[in-house]
Amino acid sequence: MSQTTESWGSRVGLILAMAGNAVGLGNFLRFPVQAVQNGGGTFIIPYLVSFLLMGIPLLWVEWAMGRFGGRYGDHSTPFILDNMTKRRFWKYFGVFGIFTNMGVMAYYTYIESWTLTYTIKSLKGDFLGLDLAQLDIFFNNYVDLGSGINFPVWAILAFLVTLTINIYILSRGLSAGIETVAKIAMPLLILFGAFLAIMSWTTGSTGRCDDCSTFIGLNFLWEPDFTTLANPKIWLAAAGQIFFTLSVGMGTIHCYSSYLKQKDDIALNAMAAGWMNGFVEIVLGSAVVIPIAVGYLGLDWVIENAGFMMAFKTMPFLFDQWGSVIAVISGVAWFGLLFFAGITSSLAMGTPFMGFVQDEFNWSKNKSAIILGVSILAMGLPTILFFEKGVFDEYDYWTGTVSLVVFALAEVILFAWVFGMDKGWAEINDGADMKVPKIYRPIIKYVTPLFIGTILFTSLIKPLNGELSDWSTAWNSLLSGNGWPWAKDSIINKVFHLDTGVIWWENDVLTDMFYIDMSRYFLLTCFFVLVAMVKAASNKRKKRAL
Ligand code: PHE
Repeated sequence: MSQTTESWGSRVGLILAMAGNAVGLGNFLRFPVQAVQNGGGTFIIPYLVSFLLMGIPLLWVEWAMGRFGGRYGDHSTPFILDNMTKRRFWKYFGVFGIFTNMGVMAYYTYIESWTLTYTIKSLKGDFLGLDLAQLDIFFNNYVDLGSGINFPVWAILAFLVTLTINIYILSRGLSAGIETVAKIAMPLLILFGAFLAIMSWTTGSTGRCDDCSTFIGLNFLWEPDFTTLANPKIWLAAAGQIFFTLSVGMGTIHCYSSYLKQKDDIALNAMAAGWMNGFVEIVLGSAVVIPIAVGYLGLDWVIENAGFMMAFKTMPFLFDQWGSVIAVISGVAWFGLLFFAGITSSLAMGTPFMGFVQDEFNWSKNKSAIILGVSILAMGLPTILFFEKGVFDEYDYWTGTVSLVVFALAEVILFAWVFGMDKGWAEINDGADMKVPKIYRPIIKYVTPLFIGTILFTSLIKPLNGELSDWSTAWNSLLSGNGWPWAKDSIINKVFHLDTGVIWWENDVLTDMFYIDMSRYFLLTCFFVLVAMVKAASNKRKKRAL
């Protein structure tokens, strides 16, 4: 419904932008940590299965939906969905496709700003000679940890700078902005990643401890282990990683692909971007933090300390072991790589809102970008100020985990069952430069929805600890009248605080739960503001149609 003339400049540019969208902090910070926390090589099997049965189908579905919506001039999920069905309520599911991106962008841009600061600090040699304790202090001071309510002046400034860079690029538009950045950032990212991977592989055994070898780290991540396949907890983590890393269930892909032309291929393009993401994640993402840390600190240390902050608190110390010149180069390569990975993703997160307001309210690119920037600033500040209270994690839980699953389930049902597999399959194959394996037709129709449905159901009621045996313990407990032992992070428990009760005030102070719950209401309010905007847009359309 827009007069926009935006489109992609070239196929290479499109693939790099799509790959840039997928390749992000998730590949380098989230994947290795998830793998370590979920049994190392055990993780890789559910990860690959989730990729084949859920990731790939969702990629095709989302690319197809986007291009289909683009044909009607729609570039935002509410109205892309609206074109696929006669039932009007579906467009409200589409609100997720804008909301999720903005919610993730709010906290994601914050981490992205750390990578910018750390790149500059590395370049200046500021980390040379610092030990782990000193790096820890630097990090804590930088994000102002330890004061309860944080007011990290430098971190906020860096956040503002990072956000401004994003907004500026977005205001330049798809081809001149995003595509240009992707064409520079993606090759550099691969180059930096390859350099670090080679450094890591050639380090091998350092003799610092018995198991201090980068190969032990690599083996730990890559060696498949079939014994724990029955553990539902690992499956949930792996599926969650597939969602996040491929940016599926978010609305970003729909938006990018809505700028395609109907004759453009989607089948092969989707695979190119998806497999490039897989390569970067499995080969490069697992080549850096974990093996190098195992090389100098040992596997036990790594398993105990795994967390995404390791990338900041530990890596500069490890690079230092290679001598100061290589330390500076590696530091710039590592944090620069993270920055590039981050910005090509956060730009993608900005586009659904941009597309929506340009389509529906005819805002100019500049106006759309500025209003997006102000909104992300408002949404991002709570994650910075109340970082320690758990607000950052709360955003990640709702907007970076749960809402993807909910939206993906809705869209795959819409695509395969409401829009219908005949039309859907034809849409995927239209203009295709590859033969889409026929097996994917029944997979998209039955397996993927069931797979996602199971994930959602399991996440809703996950019992304490979440291992296989905990499920039978939980059923027994329920049947014998002792109630269901909720996992802290099961969705139902998160919502109702069943395990602890609602405690907002204790010992004369507001509790963390208070801040967390407030941030949740705030996010909910943002969601409903978007619902109202979609409603207004829809009314406007109706008037125009009269
Ligand atoms: N896929 C990106 C990553 O791995 C994150 C992302 C989320 C990108 C949402 C776009 C939209 O970091």
